[in-house]
Amino acid sequence: MAKSLLHSSTMSDVYLLDSGEIEKHRGSRSGSETILEREFSVLSQLNIERIPEVRGFDETAKILTMSRVGTHDLSDVLHDVPLFTVPHIMRDFFSDLSTIHGQGFVHRDIKPGNVMFNVGPHGVINYAGIVDFGMSLISNRKQNEPLAIGGTEPYTHPTQSSKKFKELRTQPGQDWFAAGRTMAHLLSGGSTPSFESLLNKDGGSGLLTDLKLRFRAAFQSAADECQPVLKLMQFALSPKASGEDALMELLELGMAATECLRENITGSWPHERGLTSFQSGSSERPKRHDVLLIVDNTGSMAPYVQQVKDAFDEIANLVGGRVDLRVDLWSLGDYSTGGEGQQAVVPLGQRMRADTFQESMKSMDASRDQYDEAEAYEVALQLAYLHHPKEFWTPRQSTRRSIVLVGDAYAHGWLGKFSPWGEIVSKARGRWDKNAERRGEPDPKIKSIYDDFCRRHPHYMTLDIQNAERDAYKEAFTEIQTRDSKGRTEDSSHVYVQGELFPHRPNYKKALERCVGQKHATIHTIGSGSNLVSSSFLKYVALHGKGTYTHVGSGELIIALKGIFASVDAKIFREFEKETMEHNPNTQALNSITTFVIDSMSDEDD
Ligand SMILES: Nc1ncnc2c1ncn2[C@@H]1O[C@H](COP(=O)(O)OP(=O)(O)O)[C@@H](O)[C@H]1O
Ligand SMILES: [Mg+2]
Repeated sequence: MAKSLLHSSTMSDVYLLDSGEIEKHRGSRSGSETILEREFSVLSQLNIERIPEVRGFDETAKILTMSRVGTHDLSDVLHDVPLFTVPHIMRDFFSDLSTIHGQGFVHRDIKPGNVMFNVGPHGVINYAGIVDFGMSLISNRKQNEPLAIGGTEPYTHPTQSSKKFKELRTQPGQDWFAAGRTMAHLLSGGSTPSFESLLNKDGGSGLLTDLKLRFRAAFQSAADECQPVLKLMQFALSPKASGEDALMELLELGMAATECLRENITGSWPHERGLTSFQSGSSERPKRHDVLLIVDNTGSMAPYVQQVKDAFDEIANLVGGRVDLRVDLWSLGDYSTGGEGQQAVVPLGQRMRADTFQESMKSMDASRDQYDEAEAYEVALQLAYLHHPKEFWTPRQSTRRSIVLVGDAYAHGWLGKFSPWGEIVSKARGRWDKNAERRGEPDPKIKSIYDDFCRRHPHYMTLDIQNAERDAYKEAFTEIQTRDSKGRTEDSSHVYVQGELFPHRPNYKKALERCVGQKHATIHTIGSGSNLVSSSFLKYVALHGKGTYTHVGSGELIIALKGIFASVDAKIFREFEKETMEHNPNTQALNSITTFVIDSMSDEDD
C-alpha cells in the first residue's frame, strides 16, 4: 500500500497510509523499539476519544498502526491558530490531559509536536487530540524502568530528564508543567529556540508581561473567571516550578485550570477567524516557506533524482533552523498503470521538516516505468490546488507557497495545432495585420506578463531560442499527429495508451491558473535535457506561475533547488549565491532566481 512520510527521526518514522491510518516504525536508535512497544501497550490500555486508537502492532517488524488524530501538530500551525480559539483549544486539550491522568497514566512528552489539529483549505479547523505515548508511564511509578528518563527542553519537567530522578515517582504535575509551557508558547509565538531564550532572559520577565496581555486578548470577557489558566502558565514558566517539590502545586493548578475552562468556555470552536499572528518581534522570526516539490521520476531523470537526494542534505544544512520549512515531495510518472497499479502521482512525504525530508528520498528512485509519451504534469498541478474531495497539499496559512516542478518532459495537451506560446507572443507584441502591414495594439495585461518574464529570463528568451523551440514544437506535433492518427478517438484530443488511468485529463492551463489564483502559490520549474518542447512547456508554466524557469546541466540541479528553497530569505540567499559563484563561477543556474529574489524583496518594501 502506498504511504507517505510525515516525520522521521532517530526515534521513529511516521507514515500516512492510503487508508488514512498512521503507521509508526521504530527509528535507528537503539531503544526506539522499546519505546514503540510501550506506546502500543499504553494506547491499548487507554480509552479516550481524541487519542490514537490502535489498529495493529507488528511485534517482529515493530510497526504500530493506529488511527489518525488530526492532520497537523501544533509546531506546524502555531502561527495559524486564530487567537479567539485559544480558550477552546485549552479547554479541550486540558480536558484530554486530565482524562489521561484519570485513567492512571502520565503522558510525559507534552509539547507542541504532540498536540494535534485538523487543518483544511481555509486554515485550522479544530483541536484534534494528543499523540505520541512512547514516554508514557503509569502514574506513581518509579522512573527506573528502561528508557524512562528523557524529554524535550524547554517543555519537559526537569525531574524527567535526569538519571538523578530514577527513584522519583511519575506524577501528573510533570504533564501540567509541560502543558503550561506549551500553551504559553502558543500564546507568545515564535520558534522553540526563541521561546526558550525569552524564557531564560531576565528570569522570563518579558515573556511573562507579554503572556498576560495575550491571555487577556484571547480570553476577553472570560479572562477574569479563567485566572487559574494564566496562573498555571505563569507558574510553569517560573524557575521555582522546575523543582521536585513543585509537582504537587503544578497538579493543583492544572486541575483548577481544567475546571474553570470547563465551566466558563462553552460552545464549539468559534467561527470568527480574526487575528492569527501572536508574534511580537516578527522581523526576528524565521521566514516560513512551504514547498511542494514535484519530481519527474521516469527513467530519463535518473541522474537528477540522485541529485535531488544530495540536494536535500545540502538544503537542510543551508536553511536548517533559519527558514521554517515544510516540504511535500511527489514523485511523478506517466499515465499508464503498467499493470502494477502505479499512480501518475505518488506522494512520498508530507509537510516534512528539513530533518525528515532526507529520509523520504529513500523511497524515490527514477525507476518508474514509462509507457506513455508524455508525463502527467497536469495531473500533479491539478492535485496541487484541489481541496475537494480531498486536499492533497496543505500548506500553512501565513507562509510563502512554492510549487517546484522538476522534469524533462511536458504535459499531455501541450502539443496542439498552435503553440500556446504563439498566442502569448502575438498578444504581447500586437497581432500582425496583413492588410495594414503593421502590428495592432498589444494586450496590455499579457504584454506586461510576457515582458516581465523576458526581463527575468533574458538568457532563456532570446529570439534564437524562441524560434528553435517553435520549430521543435511544430515538428513534435506533426510527428505525434502522424503516429497517433489511428489512436485518437473521435471525442478526445489525446492518445489513449494501454492501462491508462485518466481518460479525462485535467487541463493544464486551468490547473496553472488555480495553483496561482486559488492556492496562492508561485510555480518554479527546473528543466534538464535537450528536449526543446519540454523547455518551452516549462517556461510557459513558470510564466503563468509567476516564478522562475531554470535549465540545469550536470550537477546544477542542487544549485537551483537550494536557491529556490532559500529564496524566501534575502540574507540566506545572498550568502548562498556568493558561495556558489566562488565555486562555480560559470553557472547560470541562479540567474533567474536571483532576479526573482531581488524583485520579491522590493515587493516586500512596498
Ligand atoms: N496518530 C497520529 N495521527 C496524526 N499524526 C500523527 C500521529 N502520530 C504521529 N503523528 C505525526 O507524526 C509526528 C511524529 O510522531 P510521534 O508519535 O510524535 O513520534 P516521535 O516519538 O518520534 O516524536 C507527530 O508530531 C505528528 O505530527
Ligand atoms: Mg512526538
